[in-house]
Amino acid sequence: MKRGLFITMEGPEGAGKTTIVHMLAKELAQDGYQVLLTREPGGIPIAEKIREVILDKDHTEMDSRTEALLYAAARRQHLVQKVIPALKEGTIVLCDRFVDSSLAYQGYARGLDMEEIYQINEFAINGLMPDRTLYFDIDPAEGLKRIRANGEREVNRLDLEELQFHEKVKEGYDLIMERWKERFTVIDAGQPIEKVFEQSKQALVEFFAEKRVNNK
Ligand code: TMP
Repeated sequence: MKRGLFITMEGPEGAGKTTIVHMLAKELAQDGYQVLLTREPGGIPIAEKIREVILDKDHTEMDSRTEALLYAAARRQHLVQKVIPALKEGTIVLCDRFVDSSLAYQGYARGLDMEEIYQINEFAINGLMPDRTLYFDIDPAEGLKRIRANGEREVNRLDLEELQFHEKVKEGYDLIMERWKERFTVIDAGQPIEKVFEQSKQALVEFFAEKRVNNK
């Protein structure tokens, strides 16, 4: 069966991942690749509504398990409605965050237990893990400084967490990368944006060549 590639972008807040993934999608499309850019939580109307519920700054009473289940629910709907159909058409799907975010944020930083978070997510994704993940590595203090300096960016409920929480997110990602070493490419997101973009693009093009995906 023809199948595209599922590529996810991960990292702590302020790593510039969203900017880079937009640049990548545009450039790859110009180069002739069949690309779909999407994001989590969101990407389709039902999941965007769930996103609003999760990230609403007024929802300070939200329980951590509720939060984890809502991310998994949004993920399920997004996969079924958007990602899986695109992969079946042979599209390269670039997704801004996926299951690793739940493992790092809910599983590790919220202290819910990564294995349990993996279990509820396995119910949602039913075995569909990314083919490749780019990890945008940034010092959490620098990342927070960047988002707080960027007046245009929406500040959500999780951004309001203290530095200690974001340091735990990074520790969580380190554990995830240990577990799924082969899936990850680490990009130093502390570099100037053009460099981050170049390295990300090169990592993807090399991966496409390995998988014999071409742009004709
Ligand atoms: P974004 O700012 O990258 O759009 O992501 C929204 C927030 O949601 C961000 O703080 C990371 C968080 N998040 C989780 O905690 N768990 C998840 O599974 C996902 C996808 C995002």
